[in-house]
Amino acid sequence: MSDDEPGESHRGTAFVVHVEPKSHGIDAPVDRDAVSRLAEAVSLTEAIGVTVTGEFSVPLARAVPATLMGRGKVEEIAAAARGIGPEIAVVNAQLSPVQQRNLERAWKVKVLDRTALILEIFGARARTKEGRLQVELAHLTYQRSRLVRSWTHLERQRGGFGFMGGPGETQIETDRRLIGERIAKIRRELEGVKRTRNLQRRARKRVPFPVIALVGYTNAGKSTLFNALTKSEVFAKDLLFATLDPTMRGLKLPGGTKAVLSDTVGFIADLPHELVAAFRATLEEVLEADVIAHVRDISHLETASQKIDVLKVLNELGVGEERGIVEILNKIDLLAPDRCDGLVVRGATRDDAPMAVSALTGEGFDQLLRRLEAMLTTANIAFRLTLNHSDGEGLAWAYRHASVLERSDGEAGITLRLSASRPEMERFEAKFHDGIIRDHDVVDGFSSTTS
Ligand code: GTP
Repeated sequence: MSDDEPGESHRGTAFVVHVEPKSHGIDAPVDRDAVSRLAEAVSLTEAIGVTVTGEFSVPLARAVPATLMGRGKVEEIAAAARGIGPEIAVVNAQLSPVQQRNLERAWKVKVLDRTALILEIFGARARTKEGRLQVELAHLTYQRSRLVRSWTHLERQRGGFGFMGGPGETQIETDRRLIGERIAKIRRELEGVKRTRNLQRRARKRVPFPVIALVGYTNAGKSTLFNALTKSEVFAKDLLFATLDPTMRGLKLPGGTKAVLSDTVGFIADLPHELVAAFRATLEEVLEADVIAHVRDISHLETASQKIDVLKVLNELGVGEERGIVEILNKIDLLAPDRCDGLVVRGATRDDAPMAVSALTGEGFDQLLRRLEAMLTTANIAFRLTLNHSDGEGLAWAYRHASVLERSDGEAGITLRLSASRPEMERFEAKFHDGIIRDHDVVDGFSSTTS
């Protein structure tokens, strides 16, 4: 795993081999599904900074235990590899350790399967301490499962000879023990990180700018949009953490509102289950965002099912409906003009309609920025304020500048639960400082409250 920025440096060349299970025989023409899955695998491979020099789609009627794909395909790819000489081969499927080893021998290159490839990407993209630990945990668990499986394999072989022990077995046991110890240590560290996380989050809220998080499928265009929207933004320099975290940058909206735009790691179709926790940890920062911008590739064949996947995960992460979510339909430059015009008009006329943009040409940016600003300034924030019984002036001020959701008079003073727009909330913070405690949730309108 590398600490490099994705795509920052040239990290070699690769063949990408997509394996498409087929129920109706290998002679059926390659379907559109396989084409788009191969394209996805190629773009994931490029995300680790590798140049793809060969692409193969392998329809698979029946998995071959030794090499997954049949001998003919293995040899065809071996011949191409001899000619072009890639440094790695990515097989877009889950490989057993034996299959991986046999393919490495046949092609004379290092082979990564899908899980290993995604682990590389997460490793390069994980920003938070928790994210990095979760990725390492997933990586070690992956390695250990390989050792366990090779061990069973060796044991079976040895069983035939009727003797126990041997250098291979000892080495594997040692490796397993070391990996086990490292896993236990990471789990302990993760517990610690989780305990301090809430404290950190509270500290971060002191950054007096609202946060807009970009989420969406890999390849939807999040990073392109992130770069285009924040290009030449001097305001970024004002932010203390901007230098620490390259995935967060300042953004000035048309009416003057300052915000922070945050890019997140992309969703991946058919995420291997052992990587789910690592992926979620990299998405944790979304929970802190004031507005979530869901970027979709509207030209993608599977755009509808991708949307369902993203909303499902957001929901599981605890991002409720009340949180401001704006849908951004990206890549409209790839649509037929009439379809594209319809989307742009709808976005302009309805408050909750998706915003149609092209991150590449900048079309739709004005509307998008105005919408984001409107969402940030109208979203209401719930918070608590405690005042001394004697502070009649403060109490009157609070009633004038916010909606009072609840009031309780106790020994410590008068506690009000209030709801106000962000600018008003900031005035409260300036006036009352530590008397303010912000509720975790942003409420949409005065009617929806949390307690
Ligand atoms: P991950 O980093 O993998 O999560 O992907 P991402 O969502 O950040 O996508 P990225 O910005 O890397 O864009 C993916 C590909 O789509 C790149 O080749 C971009 O040039 C292309 N792309 C992004 N936006 C547009 C767009 O509006 N129109 C067109 N035609 N291509 C776009």
